Amino acid sequence: MELKRLAAPAVTALLVLTTGCTGATVQGRPGASGLRDPFFPRAGNGGYQVDHYALDLAYDPADGRLHGTAVITARAGQGLSSFNLDFSGLKVEAVDVQGAAARYNRTGNELTVRPAKDLKKGEVFRTTVDYSGRPKPVVDPDGSEEGWITTEDGAVAVGEPVGSMGWFPGNHHPSDKAAYDVTVTVPDGYEAVSNGRLRSRRETGDGRTEFAWHSPEPMASYLATVAVGKFRVSTGRTPSGVEVYNAVDGGEAAGSEAALKRLPEMVEWASTRFGPYPFGTAGSIVMPAGTLAYALETQTKPVYPGAPGEELVLHELAHQWFGNSVSPKSWKDMWLNEGFATYAEWLWSEDRGGITAQRRFEAFLAGDTSVDAEAGGGWDAFPPAAPPGAAQVSDAPVYYRGAMVLHRIRQEVGDEAFFGLLRGWTADHRHGNASTADFTAYAQRRTGHDLKKVWDVWLYGQGRPRA
Ligand code: ARG
Ligand code: ZN
Repeated sequence: MELKRLAAPAVTALLVLTTGCTGATVQGRPGASGLRDPFFPRAGNGGYQVDHYALDLAYDPADGRLHGTAVITARAGQGLSSFNLDFSGLKVEAVDVQGAAARYNRTGNELTVRPAKDLKKGEVFRTTVDYSGRPKPVVDPDGSEEGWITTEDGAVAVGEPVGSMGWFPGNHHPSDKAAYDVTVTVPDGYEAVSNGRLRSRRETGDGRTEFAWHSPEPMASYLATVAVGKFRVSTGRTPSGVEVYNAVDGGEAAGSEAALKRLPEMVEWASTRFGPYPFGTAGSIVMPAGTLAYALETQTKPVYPGAPGEELVLHELAHQWFGNSVSPKSWKDMWLNEGFATYAEWLWSEDRGGITAQRRFEAFLAGDTSVDAEAGGGWDAFPPAAPPGAAQVSDAPVYYRGAMVLHRIRQEVGDEAFFGLLRGWTADHRHGNASTADFTAYAQRRTGHDLKKVWDVWLYGQGRPRA
């Protein structure tokens, strides 16, 4: 079957033919080295999809060395003679596939694995990668740093958009989501935190403590995190029973208290606006101020660089629906994350008797962005669904003009249809992926309104919209 797709010379070069009792089975061609994302063409890999990552990490803040074993359970989408993982820096010590040592080589951020035996289409296979070293941050096209970021007494891992390859090998594109088990061993006295629920915490007897974290819901790899530090941990539950786990750097504890106290109430509020909270746990990781240049909505436990304010906590919480449960199909769809999380802030303020979304929209339109503390200028620099390049996916128009797109829809369809649309969108794509085209089609179908003008002017149009 696969033969037809390849030119004849390639066939003889790449294919391995095995003869079974039912005749010849064709296997084995290399998986693609990227998923051709419009902005990050080499991110992710073709030929397989990951079901589960088991990451077993040991970290010592004193010397900054990380030792990792990644066990990646995936399903082959084609016969595979080799496949790639995205991985940057660190030393690969060994790779095996299905228990047999595999050959591998590295070029740039691509780790190519050649299993001893070809994988069949549909086969579920386990790849184990042992690695170690001092991880270095990954620098993004916009100049920001991701990956494994060290602090004075610890570290934190963040991955948007392509930083996760700096601390574990994987299929690092948001279109391939998987479940995770992350086990971290650190010297006694340190806490190690990751996404999801803490399954166990035990002293290993050799001066170290092992923390085992479990994330059953699908997660895009850019949302995976590990944080190591001297945290104060507090736990609780929201009124409807979602577990809350906050890990706060000692120096940030006092400043974080007011905003984090409101997290349970925010989860309840957001659930009425956006539909049921998509995960079993919620929480926060507050790192020392200055650790990072921004906060990130790491799944179930956003990372904050220093004590967060209330609006920021609300923003990262909103991403649990918009971005984390409903994830972008490509990095060009970032406004589906940021426009929605920004609009969530506007709604939270409106619902609590603060400035209304309408008032904010009008002020932005009139050139007054002082109504949003974070905004600054430039919301109109480009259309949110078409950033000019990879360096602009986190720029102001993606956030603020993205939020204004949502407000324009609300103006067209009215409150009832608009909030029905938000809840329908999160329900329809729960734990999945969606593109801008999926959203515009869904919005028209769900509300029964022709919204073409909003898309043309606000979402895709160049120049500053006037109304
Ligand atoms: N998604 C984060 C937020 O809005 C911001 C990430 C910025 N990342 C970057 N590489 N500039 O909360
Ligand atoms: Zn955001």
